[in-house]
Amino acid sequence: MSGRTNLTIVLAAGEGTRMRSSLPKVLHPVAGQPLLRHVLAAAPGGEGSSLAVVVGPDHQAVADEVTRARPDAQTFVQTDRRGTAHAVLAARSAIAQGADDLLVVFGDTPLLSADTFARLRAPLKDGVALVVLGFRAADPTGYGRLVGEGGELVAIREQADASAEEKKITLCNAGIMAFDGRVALTILDKIGHANSKNEYYLTDAVAIARELGLKAAVIETGEDEVRGINTKAQLAEAEQVMQARLRKAALEAGVTMVAPETVYLAADTVFGKDVTVEPFVVFGPGVSIADGAVIHAFSHVVGASIGANASVGPYARLRPGTSLGEGARIGNFVETKAATIEAGAKANHLSYIGDSHVGAGANIGAGTITCNYDGFDKHRTEIGTGAFVGSNSSLVAPVKIGAGAYIGSGSVITRDVPDDALAVERNEQSLREGWAKRYRDTKLARKKKPKS
Ligand code: UD1
Ligand code: MG
Repeated sequence: MSGRTNLTIVLAAGEGTRMRSSLPKVLHPVAGQPLLRHVLAAAPGGEGSSLAVVVGPDHQAVADEVTRARPDAQTFVQTDRRGTAHAVLAARSAIAQGADDLLVVFGDTPLLSADTFARLRAPLKDGVALVVLGFRAADPTGYGRLVGEGGELVAIREQADASAEEKKITLCNAGIMAFDGRVALTILDKIGHANSKNEYYLTDAVAIARELGLKAAVIETGEDEVRGINTKAQLAEAEQVMQARLRKAALEAGVTMVAPETVYLAADTVFGKDVTVEPFVVFGPGVSIADGAVIHAFSHVVGASIGANASVGPYARLRPGTSLGEGARIGNFVETKAATIEAGAKANHLSYIGDSHVGAGANIGAGTITCNYDGFDKHRTEIGTGAFVGSNSSLVAPVKIGAGAYIGSGSVITRDVPDDALAVERNEQSLREGWAKRYRDTKLARKKKPKS
């Protein structure tokens, strides 16, 4: 059969019960992005596909995340949490549109690939009514078991309802299913009988399809792709799988990492050519690193764009809004936030540079602090091209240091400094010749005298 073109995806993204968190389950991050975003990135999009997302009550944050990722998505609210089939049916009006294919996807399986979605839909072309994604679980506990008979899928049995014999089955339900759109609603509507837990199980769809004389099939994939996240432990496992994937991809793209297993990447980290990442570096979301840059050990980088041949760390912290120009250097124990640091500028030691613009070639001495916060508002610091800020200076924002200006070490700068000027703000140095020697002699003499 040809001409199966349009598709409805129903993504069940309601609340889970075992995360023990006030954050909705599908917003928990893996590799710096919510679970939900990973699923949406892999799910088929484009022309002819419409997306319906089912969210839990009071989950506006989930709906917002969906809209950011896929502005065309429709969201539906499932008011009571009454099981996966109940969740899917919350999107009844989207299903009733009668697309050729219906894909049901869970928001808690972030490791799925686009390729698997395509494989899952393929048997629908051959007249199969329902295709289930299966995998062999090392430990099947908690997953629905795929019960076969004579090589055919006859039912899915949830852990709670499985017999001792069925519990031994290691072929499990990954949770995603593809339905022939013409029969999907007929099948789903028959899941009308709530079970012992008063839940409507999507997994009953298989037995119902069989009762209707329709065919169900299984497509298998590897366990790492379908880990469903119900607990914080499973969230951590998924993170490991995702990190392994991202590290492998980075190495394949030519990034040099001597200890990749110690480097944490975000799903959206972008690398240029010949980038080196030393051990124990953590990248949060929104980082891009241009050609030839080096990120030295123990650095933490989030929301930053790092220019070509720039050098970061060791022990640097780049926070969101940081932009480093070509060849810029950020050294140990330097923190930057909302700061543009132009080409060749340096802050090599112990500084905080926030809400700032640092001109090309400027030198920020050790211990320089931009005092950007007055307890109420944030203010900007402008440092001109080629300026030299002496060590241990405080630049109290809003303040402007002109191009080529010098700031004497230890100054607290509260007023603008013109181009090429010297600003020093500290007391005259006083000097007393011989004072130290006299002091020592007196002290030593007292110490030697026996106590009376
Ligand atoms: C489900 C499957 C199980 C499968 C496993 C794979 C059912 C009955 N069980 O179990 O066979 O092995 O996934 O990971 O389908 N959700 C709602 N509303 C609800 C219930 C769930 O939106 O009322 C959403 C959850 O946010 C989640 C997804 O549906 O994203 C799956 O629900 P979950 O409770 O995680 O099901 P599992 O027990 O993992
Ligand atoms: Mg689950």
